[in-house]
Amino acid sequence: MIEIRGLTKSFHKHKVLDHIDLTIQKGDVVAVIGSSGAGKSTLLRSINLLEVPDEGTIKIDELTVDITRRSKADVLELRKSTAMVFQQFNLFRQKTALENVMEGLIVVKKIPKEQACQIAAGQLARVGLSDKVHYYPKQLSGGQQQRVAIARALAMQPKILLFDEPTSALDPELVGEVLDTIKKAAEEGNTMLLVSHEMNFVRKVATRVLFLDQGVIVEDGTPNEVFSKPKSERTKQFLANYYRDQEPEFAI
Ligand SMILES: Nc1ncnc2c1ncn2[C@@H]1O[C@H](COP(=O)(O)OP(=O)(O)OP(=O)(O)O)[C@@H](O)[C@H]1O
Ligand SMILES: [Mg+2]
Repeated sequence: MIEIRGLTKSFHKHKVLDHIDLTIQKGDVVAVIGSSGAGKSTLLRSINLLEVPDEGTIKIDELTVDITRRSKADVLELRKSTAMVFQQFNLFRQKTALENVMEGLIVVKKIPKEQACQIAAGQLARVGLSDKVHYYPKQLSGGQQQRVAIARALAMQPKILLFDEPTSALDPELVGEVLDTIKKAAEEGNTMLLVSHEMNFVRKVATRVLFLDQGVIVEDGTPNEVFSKPKSERTKQFLANYYRDQEPEFAI
């Protein structure tokens, strides 16, 4: 279980996260939606301390980290408990798909090379890339690169997977294969926190949806509750704008 309490972050007096409280149960697929600048990326980045919050506590199973009193060991443990998939894939360019997936297993988890290789090959097979294990990122499509990034995250067996707009850098025809990969990982019981603008996907795959507005969670419910019966005006407005901008066949 993941418990976040009082998570707060400001950039130059601008409060980007305002005392966020959030509990995520094992197996939950929590989608975070909200306007640009709402604090979605900052929330994800604060959970693995890529961004250091000003205050708050983050509890992941038996590990409790009070931000203001964190030790180096806490930070390392927190990073080991999480894995992030970025919009821009962030693969090592000079490493093959297989080596990209092996890296964290060897360096962070201290798994022997041969075993890491086996695990990595297995994960790449699960995301449908068995035939591309020895390819370098530049030899792969954006969708394939993102699937390598997902395989790399899954290989670490994190307590929570963090996805920050994993499909928004992709050409439209490549979005589907990445969403299918995320859906499969969700169905396999992985706990996830996902920032996405793919509302149809969020509706189908998320077990819970949060609407973040100016650093505050103003809506928290099932996809049906949030999309069909939003409570706050800001959520209603956001969804109305979103669907107005969609192609007519996707509009609700
Ligand atoms: N490193 C930083 N330094 C200063 N301000 C920052 C920094 N990172 C984020 N911000 C500011 O914090 C606010 C929230 O940013 P964040 O990236 O979390 O928004 P977001 O909801 O992910 O937006 P988007 O949908 O555009 O990705 C923005 O106003 C942004 O300018
Ligand atoms: Mg963002």
